[in-house]
This record gives sequence, structure tokens and C-alpha cells, in this order.
Amino acid sequence: MTHHQLCIQRCFDLANLAAGKVTPNPRVGAVITYKKKIIGEGFHQYPGGPHAEINAINSLKNKDVLSKCSIYISLEPCNNFGKTPPCVDSILKYKIPKVFISTIDTNPSTMGKSIEKLKAAGVAVEVNILKNKGRKITQGFFSSIEKNRPYIILKFAQSANKKIGVANKQIWISNPLTKRLTHKWRSEVNAIIVGSNTLKIDNPQLNNRLYYGKSPVKLLLKRDGQIPQHTAALKTAGKTIVISELNAAKVNYPNTSQWFLPFDNTLLNSILQNLKKEGLNSLLVEGGVTLLNSFIQQNLWDEARIFTSTKVINQPKSLAAPILDGKLITTHQIGDNNLSLIENPNK
Ligand SMILES: NC(=O)c1ccc[n+]([C@@H]2O[C@H](COP(=O)([O-])OP(=O)(O)OC[C@H]3O[C@@H](n4cnc5c(N)ncnc54)[C@H](OP(=O)(O)O)[C@@H]3O)[C@@H](O)[C@H]2O)c1
Repeated sequence: MTHHQLCIQRCFDLANLAAGKVTPNPRVGAVITYKKKIIGEGFHQYPGGPHAEINAINSLKNKDVLSKCSIYISLEPCNNFGKTPPCVDSILKYKIPKVFISTIDTNPSTMGKSIEKLKAAGVAVEVNILKNKGRKITQGFFSSIEKNRPYIILKFAQSANKKIGVANKQIWISNPLTKRLTHKWRSEVNAIIVGSNTLKIDNPQLNNRLYYGKSPVKLLLKRDGQIPQHTAALKTAGKTIVISELNAAKVNYPNTSQWFLPFDNTLLNSILQNLKKEGLNSLLVEGGVTLLNSFIQQNLWDEARIFTSTKVINQPKSLAAPILDGKLITTHQIGDNNLSLIENPNK
């Protein structure tokens, strides 16, 4: 890696400290260097709080040195007055002469405007350093802006003979390590959804118990709104949203709300629009097979994370795992499970 790439990589590491915590804002990290050494750094820590560049600047006691420094940022600095003033103006105020950016901000209020403003003021600007990685880190924010929907991750475990489970019976396919990894993923997304049969059969808690960080908002698909009291997801911390048909029974549990939506082929898009309205930019689809297949059939997915176990399921009423037409990005062996990361090339 070059020096610039290393500094941008540090910005990514900082940005990732806010995974799942800053929505609807992007996670962003920034570092300040003097004579090729990092002397200050920061990241955007909570929605409405100071942006990464400002936290990096404020990490320096002596701001006079900034006029001889470089700033590295994982995303183009903002150009608009939101809850905080434009970061680009702070860079100009402190006369930072060199700015290195991973990726431009495709939010129309910024979209290259900050870069132009910096250049017009005589600042040296370099963009697109580790750009693909920079876009990946900011994927929920970009998806919301560019596709008008959250970033969608499908996740499931399948047996060696490609079965996802057995109707009416819970079967464990994953292992303790993959379970922990799944909890890490839960900490990184804003929302998680399961279908009504999974809710009944597996009764999942849907929270993050095995990793640092937050739990996602839990979406429970239940056409008739009849959510039994013993439903585990109702008892775990965080907000639960029951999604049911227009004339369904009203749910009355603490910390639980309800979306009444038509249960037809518009359902998934309506759910995605509601998530966007709530500022929830990423969604983890945790099954079962009917729900996963409906996302696949409507081409509403960005990536899939599939665990394949060495176990074989030969029981009656076993359920075939979803079949995905995607691009295999990478595989990892995790105990007796193989993890395949697949991207949707037609998203
Ligand atoms: N291996 C894994 O990773 C994994 C993960 C989760 C679950 N599972 C297993 O999968 C099995 C459950 O899968 P499943 O396919 O039977 O059920 P499911 O996908 O959990 O739920 C299906 C039900 O959800 C509703 N639904 C789902 N998608 C919908 C859509 N697009 N529009 C409207 N309604 C929709 C429908 O309920 P209504 O008919 O009530 O409207 C449908 O019958 C269980 O055996 C479970 O253990 C395995």
C-alpha cells in the first residue's frame, strides 16, 4: 500500500467504529498528517454530532499546524448546512493545503461541489483513493441516495445438500463461530427481517448478543398481526416493528409498532420505502426461504452471505435453499461452515 492508501485505510477503520450507529448519515473517518505522520484523527460518532473532519481537527491542540498538514477523509466533505455547518468551510478556515478523499459524496447537495470549492481556493485535492472500498463502507448511505432503498443483505445457512431447514422444525446448520459473525453483521445493519414461519418455528431473538455494538430494528412479517406473547423478539432490547395486512389485528406490546401494508407484490417495496422514511439504510434478510426467495425474485438484493455446512439434511419436508444468480466475491472457511460472499451483478 502507498502512504496515501494507508492513511485512507485508517479512515475506513475509524469509520467502521460507527458501524450501525450513525444512520441515516454515512459512517466517515478522517486523519490529519504532518510530515507523513498521523497527528490527529476522528470519526462521525452519532447522528447530528460533529462530522469526522471536525473531530479530527478538534483532536489537535495546536491548530496552527493545520496550514502545513494533509487531511485524509473516507468521503468527500459535506457542502451543506445540516445539523452542523459545512465541513468544507472548516478545511478552508484552517487553511489545510492538501486533501485526500476516497470517494465523492453522491448526495446532490454535495456531489463534487466541495471538491470544486477546495480546488477553487487553491487546495490540492486527490480523489478516488481505494474508491471501491470507500463506497463499500458507505454502502447504506449510497444505496439510499442512488437506489432510493436500503442496502439489502440476504443471509442464510444451508446444508451440504443445499437444504435451509425442515418445515415445522428448527434445525441448527451454523456453528458457534458463524453465529457470532452473524451477530457482528446484526450490529452493522439498521434493520433485520424474518418471515412468519421462521418467527413461529425458530422464534429468533433477532438482536446482537454476541458482538459489540447495537442491535438492529427487528421487522416481523405477520399478515394477521397475531404475534404471540412468547415471541422472543418482543423481549429483546430495541425497537420491533410488526408488518401486517391493512385490516390485521392491532399489536399492543411495549417498544413495538406496526406497519399496515397491502400483502401483494408491492409489499417488499413498501417495506423498503418505510425503512427509508425512518432513515434506516441497511437491511439484513434472515429468512426463511419464502421471504428470501421473494427478495431474489424481485431482484431486491445487493449481496448474499451464505454459510454451507458439511451436515446433510435428509429429513422429510426439508426445504430447498434459495438459488442465487450472483457473482462470487470470496469464500472463507469458518469451522465446519464455508462462507460464500456473493454480489448481485444486476442490482
Ligand atoms: N438456514 C437458515 O439460514 C434459515 C433461516 C431462517 C429460517 N430457516 C428455516 O426456514 C423455514 C421457514 O421458511 P418458510 O419459507 O417456511 O417461511 P418464512 O419465509 O419464514 O415465512 C413465510 C411466510 O411469510 C410471509 N411472507 C414471506 N414473504 C412474503 C412476501 N413477499 N409477501 C407476503 N408474505 C410473505 C407469508 O406468510 P403468510 O402466509 O402468513 O402471509 C409466508 O407464508 C423454517 O424451517 C426455518 O427454520 C432457515
